Amino acid sequence: VDGKTVGWLGLRKHERLSHPLDVAYLKEQSKVFYLAGIAMLMLVAVVSYFLSKNMLSPVKQLTAGTRALTSLKFDTRIDVHSKDELGQLAADFNEMARTLEQSEQLRRQWLTDISHELRTPLSILRGEIEAMQDGVRETTRQNLDSLHSEVIYLSKIVNDLHDLSLAETGALPLNKKTIDPAKVLRETIKLFETKFAQDQITVFDELASDQRVAFEGDGDRFTQLFSNLFENALRYIDRPGSLRIWQTWGENRLILHVEDSGPGVPEESVERLFDRLYRVDHARTRARGGSGLGLSICKSIVEAHGGKITAANGQSGGLRFDIDLPLISDKNVGM
Ligand SMILES: Nc1ncnc2c1ncn2[C@@H]1O[C@H](COP(=O)(O)OP(=O)(O)OP(=O)(O)O)[C@@H](O)[C@H]1O
Ligand SMILES: [Mg+2]
Repeated sequence: VDGKTVGWLGLRKHERLSHPLDVAYLKEQSKVFYLAGIAMLMLVAVVSYFLSKNMLSPVKQLTAGTRALTSLKFDTRIDVHSKDELGQLAADFNEMARTLEQSEQLRRQWLTDISHELRTPLSILRGEIEAMQDGVRETTRQNLDSLHSEVIYLSKIVNDLHDLSLAETGALPLNKKTIDPAKVLRETIKLFETKFAQDQITVFDELASDQRVAFEGDGDRFTQLFSNLFENALRYIDRPGSLRIWQTWGENRLILHVEDSGPGVPEESVERLFDRLYRVDHARTRARGGSGLGLSICKSIVEAHGGKITAANGQSGGLRFDIDLPLISDKNVGM
């Protein structure tokens, strides 16, 4: 600085190791380093081989399983029990396969049951017609009437099946308008008046006669719903019998109740009443012409309107149906 030397900067000459002990030590060290390097490399290779094998094997199984499911082999299961995400995925896969297998079984059962259901009236029809063709049975008005009622029974089943399959895919056509379900219920009672009187069934109509409800629904479907309940009453309750019909209100809900005088159904059957093709007593009810679809249709209709239908054994010893319907606004006035 300003011509003065204030410091020195120098490079030290590289000191060669000349001592044999130092040289040997350095060689030894490098050898150890190389060996350690190679050992590390091998370890990494082995570990990654096993890791990838462990990871890939479940992935392979999952891929194969998915392919099997795609080709409808629903009994496929994956044998992976690890506790990691892959294990969880495999468990979920197995659960999904189980659900699919069950629903496939139900579908097959349903097909078997329904074809059986259609076969019986068809074979009756065929037998009767052939007997008439062969002259074994006379072609009288009465015999034709019995054939006709068998055809009506068949077409009812087919129509019910059609409705059910539409409801299942969420495509039940609903012609929605503002209606009062209680009013539709009362009109349906009128339709059944003569039949009830003939069968010594008294109807106690305790519905409010003057009310304003705002409910969006298909009136014809509600007539169908109540008709199914009334047909059941005509078919299954003891004579002389009675029906009590009333309503209650929930928060923005209207609940319709229909209770008959009995004999009701065993407690273990109550839950299953709404199952398709379910009948409490096969032999007895078939003789009376039921196919076990009526109540499942009732359920579909109510659910398509956002409501709920439940059955319970009532105090009278008969069955009570509660139909719980959501109203569209709070402008409703209960009476
Ligand atoms: N009010 C009732 N009292 C006693 N048992 C009933 C009553 N309603 C229904 N059941 C029983 O529930 C079963 C199912 O009824 P559901 O209406 O679904 O079918 P179904 O009457 O047999 O045939 P469908 O209505 O399709 O002609 C009936 O077979 C009957 O055993
Ligand atoms: Mg019925």
